[in-house]
Amino acid sequence: MNTQKKLYISPSLLAADYCKLGSSVQKIEEAGADFLHLDIMDGNFVPNLSFGPDIISALRPRSGLIFDVHLMINSPEKYLERFISAGADIITVHREAVNDPASLLSRIRDAKVRASMAISPATPAEEVLPYLSMLDMVLVMTVVPGFGGQKLIPETLEKVRFLRRQIDARGLDTDIEVDGGISAENAGLVTNAGANVIVAGSAIFGSPRPRQVMLAMRTAARENPYVAE
Ligand code: DX5
Ligand code: ZN
Repeated sequence: MNTQKKLYISPSLLAADYCKLGSSVQKIEEAGADFLHLDIMDGNFVPNLSFGPDIISALRPRSGLIFDVHLMINSPEKYLERFISAGADIITVHREAVNDPASLLSRIRDAKVRASMAISPATPAEEVLPYLSMLDMVLVMTVVPGFGGQKLIPETLEKVRFLRRQIDARGLDTDIEVDGGISAENAGLVTNAGANVIVAGSAIFGSPRPRQVMLAMRTAARENPYVAE
């Protein structure tokens, strides 16, 4: 059975020109993006620093994109309200960063924000299963989190396939997002594995023709659908 879900493209702001964030976001919105991926790094959960909720608040009135906030921080529970009031539409917390995901996920959903859980390449997909019914999205990291511009780790796609099967078996409608090393050239591999939300930083913000890149990703997705066994 072909259970292809709608494809969403989420360009990662991490690869944008920080001197002109507002116009860069406007440009990728006009070029056909669905989401805006916002990578929050604390120099602790990951060995890199990015930006915080104030950048999100500043961009919020300038964009109609779905704000897809990826928290690569320890103790996300301390900062949740800040990201909610900054205008997040989706909040992703890392499984590795929280002891009690269930209460955090209900706090996110109570605020009418979509709840998502990420797993780094070293974390087994089974770790997500107890929380599946509380999740709007699962983020399978296709690189070790912390930096843009890395190469996709092909083994992580087996986790995507496994989770898509588990989601279907439970009759859920959960999105699967993939993040790291994705370009128009390998987008078909991730959609074939069952992902339907593609994050891409350098491939989109690094290109002079972001519209063409996103169109090529959509074509690759159409030509390489997930087909349930
Ligand atoms: C990595 C981040 C990614 C990153 C992706 O830790 O979570 O969102 O921006 O960048 P590319 O697409 O360049 O690999
Ligand atoms: Zn990310």
